[in-house]
Amino acid sequence: MTKNIKTILAIETSCDETAAAVLTVADKKPFPQIKTLSSVINSQIKLHSKMGGVVPEIAARAHIKNILPVVKHALVTCNLSLTDLDYIAVTAGPGLMPSLIVGVEFAKALAMTTNKPIIPVNHMLGHLYSPLKQVESRKLKVESLFPMISLIVSGGHTMIVLMEDIKNYKVLGETVDDAAGEAFDKVAKLLKLPYPGGPEVSRLAEQSENPVDFPRPMINSKNYNFSFSGLKTAVLYYLQNQKLPATNYQLQANICAGFQNAAVDVLVTKTMRAVKEFGAKSVSLSGGVSANNSLREKLKVESKKLKVNFFVPEKGLRTDNAEMIGLAAAFMLYNGFKPKKYNQIKPDSNLSL
Ligand code: KG4
Ligand code: ZN
Repeated sequence: MTKNIKTILAIETSCDETAAAVLTVADKKPFPQIKTLSSVINSQIKLHSKMGGVVPEIAARAHIKNILPVVKHALVTCNLSLTDLDYIAVTAGPGLMPSLIVGVEFAKALAMTTNKPIIPVNHMLGHLYSPLKQVESRKLKVESLFPMISLIVSGGHTMIVLMEDIKNYKVLGETVDDAAGEAFDKVAKLLKLPYPGGPEVSRLAEQSENPVDFPRPMINSKNYNFSFSGLKTAVLYYLQNQKLPATNYQLQANICAGFQNAAVDVLVTKTMRAVKEFGAKSVSLSGGVSANNSLREKLKVESKKLKVNFFVPEKGLRTDNAEMIGLAAAFMLYNGFKPKKYNQIKPDSNLSL
């Protein structure tokens, strides 16, 4: 029998999803045994799509309205109450400050009244650990996992991270301007497509008959950084030189496919270069842009060619959710993190990995 099972309530409000999840973690060597009991996500997409993007003030108000029912739902779903919890985990940053404050202050109030310790989680650590949920079900040995190269692509970040083992990681490169998801969203805006643009761009890209050939910024640079703002400008200039309106379906499809091909090519090429340089045994992909079929498929194919494992989170774990915050908290505990008292944590919109 596995001993020492801890129950974690995780809360995520860093951007426009109010989310809560309940997980258990058992201290089983050499890999923690983590079970998700519930995961509830209340997305504000409808609210923000009218405005063409996330409005922080509106997001915070919606979090205030939703957080109590969302947390309650997560607990009721698994038949637990606050007294059953061992820890409260919450996203402390990075993210939008008004949004972060709601989750953090709510978690602090819960921790204070129930006298439970709190685990402040870096949102990016949530994305980083999200693909590792599959290690147990795929019956993989820990020795065959690391070093791992992790590509994290979200609306706010683009990073290549070297995971040396289950605990130690190093950021190898980041975007120097727009994040990958942000670039998808901006291209969608140029084409007058609704927010969030990523899913729209990838849907249209699949309809293209003749993808536009766009540049691949920094694909040959000697580092692991990215730049997507020039690619977005190339799309803008291409569009300005067309006689057809931005709403023309075939034009939209060809631009979306061309943009996606370029972005995916840069992301995959640099990730696989890191795999070779660091002799990685696995590749993982996470963050909202991991919902992109083309990126997932290309990275999977390239990983297979190099005979390395490939991990991508299941559907509900790709875009923002609280389950990944609970997973990261579970790994933090497993790696020796000492939980805090409610008055020892505060939100930090620029928290770095
Ligand atoms: O990780 P996430 O939910 O939030 C942040 O932490 O930023 O990522 C959201 C981003 C948005 O920019 C959205 O357009 C993008 O993920 N996204 C996609 C797809 N689905 C979501 N980008 C490309 N293709 C998709 N299918
Ligand atoms: Zn995220």
